[in-house]
Amino acid sequence: MGRAIVLTSGKGGVGKTTVTANLGMHLASRNYRVCLVDMDIGLNNLDVVMNMEDRVVYSMLDVIEKKCRLKEALIQDDCFPLLYLLSSGGLNSNLSIQLSQIRGIIDELHNMFDFILIDCPAGIDAGFKRAVSCADEALVITTPHLSSIRDADKVITILSSYNIFSKRFVINRARGDLIQDKLMFDVHDIGKTLNIEFGGVIPEDDHAITNTSENINNNKIAINRAFEILADNILTGKKRLFDCTYKYRGILGTIKKLLKRSV
Ligand SMILES: Nc1ncnc2c1ncn2[C@@H]1O[C@H](COP(=O)(O)OP(=O)(O)OP(=O)(O)O)[C@@H](O)[C@H]1O
Ligand SMILES: [Mg+2]
Repeated sequence: MGRAIVLTSGKGGVGKTTVTANLGMHLASRNYRVCLVDMDIGLNNLDVVMNMEDRVVYSMLDVIEKKCRLKEALIQDDCFPLLYLLSSGGLNSNLSIQLSQIRGIIDELHNMFDFILIDCPAGIDAGFKRAVSCADEALVITTPHLSSIRDADKVITILSSYNIFSKRFVINRARGDLIQDKLMFDVHDIGKTLNIEFGGVIPEDDHAITNTSENINNNKIAINRAFEILADNILTGKKRLFDCTYKYRGILGTIKKLLKRSV
């Protein structure tokens, strides 16, 4: 029986889709069967981030409308044979979707995969409710900015009325240079506010935009090391922390910090 984890945030643009894609690749690279489910119906872009846009023939909406079977709508990743995407489909049929239909699909995926990662839309409207209603666990994504933390906090309150037994927060786009100089909230500040289990810290990194299955195991890329730790925490229940301040320590670190700020 697989684990259905919803990645949600309340606030838009904080990295839900990026974390869904990268976490999925890391879990699949460890030989877990993973299905990424794009629940951002109408504004779907998980297929774009996964570089599978051109391969989408059928979507979740086609499965609901019985135009195809679920297996036909699953797109296999080129690099990781255990990684699949279920795209959400276009805007048109959005209104006809029943919660029970989505639940039926996720139930079926439970029997086929070890992990079902559900990419939730921003906000707390119908799309959010659909996504969280199908999940057993939640990863609440926030950036270290006050508006994002506040929205994450609201989402956590709402999540308590759903049947979700595990909730963890993930800080995305953490800047080690700013955290070290106390110009950005760190994991302890955010943890005190959100008051749920710690999941992981992902640094601000240009590779977040360009990362693909081919270079996911390249440990020279900081964001890959951070996702490896996040995957590990999810698999083992540990609370290991990726330290994004490490490269700004010492004389060399101070120079790096000054150079970064002067850009
Ligand atoms: N750790 C990171 N470092 C640098 N850029 C990042 C990071 N995480 C996400 N981004 C960038 O931020 C932008 C928004 O990310 P993403 O689309 O994953 O957010 P989202 O929460 O899914 O947005 P939406 O609410 O619109 O669905 C993208 O351009 C992405 O490449
Ligand atoms: Mg998104």
